[in-house]
Amino acid sequence: MNSAYLKATRGNNSSHVPIWFMRQAGRYMSSFQKLRQKYSFLELIHTPELAAEVTMQPIDAFGFDAAIIFSDILVMADLYDLDLSYIEGQGPRIGKRVYDANALKTVTGDDIEAKLGYVTSAIRCTKELLAPSKTPLIGFCGAPFTVASYMVGEDFRGDGKKTIKWCMRNQEALHGILENLSDASIEYLKAQVKAGADALQIFESWNSYLSWKGSEEFSVQYIKRIIDGVKATCDVPITVFGTANSNYFSQLVTTDADVIAFDSKIDLHCVQKSMPAHIGIQGNLDPHFLFGSKAKLIDEVDRILDAMEGRSNFIFNLGHGVLPETPEAMVALVVDRVKKRKIGEYGK
Ligand code: CP3
Repeated sequence: MNSAYLKATRGNNSSHVPIWFMRQAGRYMSSFQKLRQKYSFLELIHTPELAAEVTMQPIDAFGFDAAIIFSDILVMADLYDLDLSYIEGQGPRIGKRVYDANALKTVTGDDIEAKLGYVTSAIRCTKELLAPSKTPLIGFCGAPFTVASYMVGEDFRGDGKKTIKWCMRNQEALHGILENLSDASIEYLKAQVKAGADALQIFESWNSYLSWKGSEEFSVQYIKRIIDGVKATCDVPITVFGTANSNYFSQLVTTDADVIAFDSKIDLHCVQKSMPAHIGIQGNLDPHFLFGSKAKLIDEVDRILDAMEGRSNFIFNLGHGVLPETPEAMVALVVDRVKKRKIGEYGK
């Protein structure tokens, strides 16, 4: 528990501000592109040694304070044999549609090893590579509403506008699916911790399509169910990210989340005033700033650091994942700038 990242998740970091980026491994890195010329995305995530190698790429290149296991939120589809594929240039596709919970079986710990053993093996492999630097490893899953959005209805391919209509027309079926996915996610996250994950993050990438009421009903209650289920047996810090967390964080503070990860649409000064001090804050640099000038990027990084000055549970991150074509030099610049910031020393 010496790492700045893990300490921050527990609210007792007193060294530098820790930094990692969502989607920190991926296409913007030339080392990743080289591997992708040889292997498909699914080959990379299915082969533990390759997944571990990709997980390490941003750690070795930039010195992030935490690694995140290279995988995808949609691997959950493999638990139910839903024929997951990634179409070059288009993204994920789930071949077998889900219309209600009858299409989903009850998932046990054994199912996780049988169907997602490639993820737990990748975690074990990565932990060996991370051991010398003692960099912590983050495991993850998608929040049930986000994962369901890719599974339900006719050929939605993750179109939020169509999904939300389907959800409103089929609310009973949706709740059945969300319950099943929540319970499967609990088993999946527990298996990741058992394999060596030091912390967990839940990705709710589609809550920006939900209203205040919809967020309570379709998103937050299931996130709470997952957190309670995992924490019943695992003492592990859990972060919740959502693309609309700046709207819904007052709902998320009612869960047992250790850290709330913010999108870029809110000034962290406001968050600082309204978030209970015991809950950690992660975020929230707009990933587009990495395409602008160095001077503007540094100004924005400093503005965020200033807003969070003195907070022992702040973790620097982006407001959403790193975008393809992000210049690697700009990523290096942000990591350097953030790591220089020691908590409580600013302004002395
Ligand atoms: O953060 C990391 O470095 C860990 C790896 C990771 C990936 N996906 C790898 C990936 C994580 C944490 C995810 C989460 C994920 N996947 C989310 C939630 C986070 C977010 O960005 O909102 C979502 C919605 C997905 C679903 C998904 N997977 C989409 C929509 C796509 C296609 C679009 C895209 O970004 O390419 C993927 C594919 C995917 N997942 C890639 C990577 C590196 C691209 C694969 C490639 O073509 O090389």
